[in-house]
Amino acid sequence: MSGTNSDNYDTAHRLTSNDLPSTPPGPIARVPRPKTDARDWYDALSDWYDIVADPFEAPARSVGLDVLEATPGERVLDVGCGTGSALLELSRAVTPDGLAIGLDLAPGMCQTARDRLTAADLEPDIVQGDGATLPFADGVFDALFASFVLELFDTPAVRPVLSEWSRVLASDGRLCIVSLSRRRAGPVTWLYEAVHERLPTHVDCRPIYLRETLLEAGFVVHDHREISAWGLPVEVVHCEIP
Ligand SMILES: C[S@@+](CC[C@H](N)C(=O)[O-])C[C@H]1O[C@@H](n2cnc3c(N)ncnc32)[C@H](O)[C@@H]1O
Repeated sequence: MSGTNSDNYDTAHRLTSNDLPSTPPGPIARVPRPKTDARDWYDALSDWYDIVADPFEAPARSVGLDVLEATPGERVLDVGCGTGSALLELSRAVTPDGLAIGLDLAPGMCQTARDRLTAADLEPDIVQGDGATLPFADGVFDALFASFVLELFDTPAVRPVLSEWSRVLASDGRLCIVSLSRRRAGPVTWLYEAVHERLPTHVDCRPIYLRETLLEAGFVVHDHREISAWGLPVEVVHCEIP
């Protein structure tokens, strides 16, 4: 579907074990800013988000799309779809009779994503909303994709958000989540976390323990990759709902 840019990474480990790993090396940071601030910040960013974020995010997102492997006829939800880069790929992958829906908190992001799909002669199906309370019935999607989104939810919200994402998936549904990772935290991560602490609205993604979080919540991990984006560890996990 999309080119895998794993050559761009410092590391590209693949693990498949569902054993819970050892104790994580330190706690994850909190995300103290209110969601209204997140909405306004991403709204303001929407016109130039790709210029700022793509060099960092696009390679990992691409790996996630390759791992998810959406196929024709599938119904896929992209939570926190941003400017629609992944949604465009997903829409093409599920063609002709599938459905790819994007959801994002920021109206400006939704509009940019709509414009992107329209420019590519695709029918945009994009909803403005909160990934914590999805406006969809139970079991309506085959797959869910979320890149650089789960780590935006504050710590107590992460488990409920994962339950909500599972709710909208069919019983054999699967997720692919791409996230900043704290598992191999080193100086670059610590520096990044210090910036997050001082600018919690503008640098709101914070590294989490993605695979552990999913395993603890009962998900079955099929594919786990650890990669590095500009020295920051990123995890890509493809899993099945509990
Ligand atoms: C770091 S960007 C990633 C965008 C996109 N997934 C990508 O890989 O390019 C995070 C996106 O999540 C959206 N977002 C933040 N909080 C959200 C929430 N609670 N529900 C849905 N979307 C949210 C933001 O508006 C933004 O578009």
